[in-house]
Amino acid sequence: MDAIKVGLIGLGTVGAGTVTVLERNANEIARRAGREIKVVQAAVKDITKPRDCALDELELVEDPFLVVNNPEVDVVVELIGGETLAKELILQAIANGKQVVTANKALIALHGNDIFAAAQEQGVMVAFEAAVAGGISIIKAIREGMAGNRIEWLAGIINGTSNYILTELEQTGVDFAGVLKDAQDLGYAEADPTFDIEGIDAAHKLTILASIAYGVPLQFEAVFTEGITKVTHQDVLYAQELGYRVKHLGIARRTDAGLELRVHPTLIPRSRLIANVNGVMNAVVVRGDAVGSTLHYGAGAGAEPTASAVVADVVDVVRAMTADPNNRVPHLAFQPGALANLPAVAMDEVQTAFYLRLELADKTGVMAQVTDILAAANININALLQKADATQSEQSDTATAIILTEPTREGDFNAALAQIQASGSLVGEAVTFRVESLA
Ligand code: NDP
Ligand code: HSE
Repeated sequence: MDAIKVGLIGLGTVGAGTVTVLERNANEIARRAGREIKVVQAAVKDITKPRDCALDELELVEDPFLVVNNPEVDVVVELIGGETLAKELILQAIANGKQVVTANKALIALHGNDIFAAAQEQGVMVAFEAAVAGGISIIKAIREGMAGNRIEWLAGIINGTSNYILTELEQTGVDFAGVLKDAQDLGYAEADPTFDIEGIDAAHKLTILASIAYGVPLQFEAVFTEGITKVTHQDVLYAQELGYRVKHLGIARRTDAGLELRVHPTLIPRSRLIANVNGVMNAVVVRGDAVGSTLHYGAGAGAEPTASAVVADVVDVVRAMTADPNNRVPHLAFQPGALANLPAVAMDEVQTAFYLRLELADKTGVMAQVTDILAAANININALLQKADATQSEQSDTATAIILTEPTREGDFNAALAQIQASGSLVGEAVTFRVESLA
């Protein structure tokens, strides 16, 4: 059989990794796919730039439309990122009847509904395993491996850059900006790293996971998003003292009220496996009614781990190219006509526990005032630490209180916090993080 011809768009971290893996493992990949797979053309911005991969017979071009319109190309692999041009290119590739593979989570989260509809109509596949959790086959695991389950909840460390920064913050206490620069140098961060540290990248990924897990349309705008920028070394140490680790989690949970979709820093008991996932590694816990809890772990970013998922997608589309388009695995796990609308649960209605750090005026009765307000709101205290001010001198007139609550309705917690803030007991801002047992 003729070789399958791949056209790459983008030859940066992931693109170069993809060429390297395809070349190094060509023989085994061909045995799996049933055909040889050859990259014949790649589009880049700057053709003169040195590349981290062998170029051999590969033609480099600067116009990406040459790739999607190249009649020789069977499979287009989009690895430039961004939304606008990437969407145009993919829609053009689909219109030209090409199979598509992409690692672009922003594109799938924001425009996936349109892209999959176009692909469905044209009878081609758009594969996107690398878009979530780098090298972990989490999409395939949920979409295919857990197809018999009703998914109850999933929670994942799904941004490698944030986990890398939080791990360094915990282990060395080094400054945020320096660690982010390392993550950028290692090729983990997005072109705009605020996507990583503000939680947007994780929200893109959670959008995709939720759609596949619950059979709902992609709905990025429904995800509550908070990044890691307010996490300090001090809070990480207090969390440790209480038996917790701080991780940036994406959580999707089905409740009677609808679907919780949230991304935020979270305290997790240290005893949970996922609390011990460090550096650029990602992990996703998925709980199905039949299988129970499953943990999926692996590198969440970087050239070859991501290329591993990209190449697996290329093999998948090559294997399925001759199958009847109506009998392929649906893009979003559920048949296109069977997507349901679960309402997104408002954050005020979410049930979660809280970590609360307060700088209190060091006066008699101040702590009692705080605990009275919590008690009046029916918020139980699970643990309490009281510290003299970390910058204390003999004359220090403030103290730090760290409170862990039992799970409560978020709206009730916020109302109680507003009362604490209005009580005059606080010096400075209160710091809060959500706490999840993941039991
Ligand atoms: P890079 O910035 O390293 O590479 C982007 C590539 O796209 C470069 O080769 C660049 O060309 C090329 N490019 C950009 N604009 C154009 C254009 N207009 N025309 C032609 N080529 C263009 O990005 P990554 O490889 O890190 O990421 C690629 C995608 O994969 C993104 O969607 C990202 O979110 C996703 N992803 C990345 C992961 C990672 O670990 N890095 C992991 C999982 C997904 P040139 O080299 O000439 O500048
Ligand atoms: N910037 C992303 C991360 C790349 O750090 O997880 C992988 O999707």
